[in-house]
Amino acid sequence: MKALLCHAFGDPPDLAVREVAEPAPGPGEVLIQVEAVGLGFFDALLLAGRYQERPPLPFIPGREHAGRVVAVGEGGDPALLGTRVAALAFGGALAERAVAKADHCLVVPPDMEPAAAGGLLSAYATSLYALEVLGRVRAGETVLVLGAAGAVGSAAIDVAKALGARVAAAASTPEKRDRCRRRGADMVIDYTAPDWRAALRDALGGGIDVVLDTVGGAVTEPAFRSLNPGGRHLVVGFASGEIPRLPLNLPLLKRASVVGVDWAGFLLSDPAGNGALLDRLGAMLADGRLTPDAPSVHGLVEMAPLLRRFLDRGGVGKPVVVPVWR
Ligand SMILES: NC(=O)c1ccc[n+]([C@@H]2O[C@H](COP(=O)([O-])OP(=O)(O)OC[C@H]3O[C@@H](n4cnc5c(N)ncnc54)[C@H](OP(=O)(O)O)[C@@H]3O)[C@@H](O)[C@H]2O)c1
Repeated sequence: MKALLCHAFGDPPDLAVREVAEPAPGPGEVLIQVEAVGLGFFDALLLAGRYQERPPLPFIPGREHAGRVVAVGEGGDPALLGTRVAALAFGGALAERAVAKADHCLVVPPDMEPAAAGGLLSAYATSLYALEVLGRVRAGETVLVLGAAGAVGSAAIDVAKALGARVAAAASTPEKRDRCRRRGADMVIDYTAPDWRAALRDALGGGIDVVLDTVGGAVTEPAFRSLNPGGRHLVVGFASGEIPRLPLNLPLLKRASVVGVDWAGFLLSDPAGNGALLDRLGAMLADGRLTPDAPSVHGLVEMAPLLRRFLDRGGVGKPVVVPVWR
């Protein structure tokens, strides 16, 4: 089969289509005919050689994808055969076929476009895990999303609204804030403005209950200081490139928590808990409580600029690659 191989890390990485051996699904695994691959900040860091782990070269990039199950490993559920799933391929998704663990697969609604399915799993599962499981968001609470026009941020607006929260969305440009409004945010905030915390308080007429933080750096502390007593600050990522420090008197004074969100760690360590999460996510997609945005769809030749866009703060929403192999 054909696959995209990364031969060298870099900006841009050295990527080339090559013929490779087809993987075989082992026990508890499925083989997926890949239709679309979602790109995320993780892929950009990994391929630039800036992630904490580096796979041995050459390797097939891409993790999150969607496609049809074409084979089931030993002991697997034959009912999965022929279904379209969104899944994670730890051995590389930018290939004609990829192997994923059956219990990491989300069966997607039959009418969902392949590209839409390819870009939803990581952002939506992370947001639901963060806001519902760890953040215990209740209807009527106020959620502040940092980096709200990004892939995870956009999904977080959708999930927070589905949980009945009021959503404040923070983003850096008027275009990104417009996008957040269209995505359903109740109010938007320019968190590059000098006193954005006061502007947020004035606009809300009070504090916030939950922060979903994909950005880190300088915006984390003012966001934490905006929490109401008992608030929860969900640490999802550090897209700013800077890991912030927080004075520990703040959580004490506010009786507030800082909660680490690592959905990939959760799915590997608690397959049953993740299975239940994916079932809830599937039900919310099927009955229309969640309405993912249409992703931007790209070809393999656009990989380098797409990866650069994450690192340049240029991305909005979720980019998806629909590979054509020749
Ligand atoms: N914990 C988990 O389970 C999990 C799962 C998925 C992703 N993540 C992490 O979550 C973070 C966001 O991922 P994503 O896919 O949503 O990325 P994304 O689409 O690129 O969004 C990130 C947002 O961060 C903001 N940002 C602020 N400073 C930035 C900078 N210097 N460079 C780039 N962006 C900057 C940008 O919005 P503004 O321009 O509006 O500020 C951007 O829209 C990443 O760190 C990723 O690794 C974590």
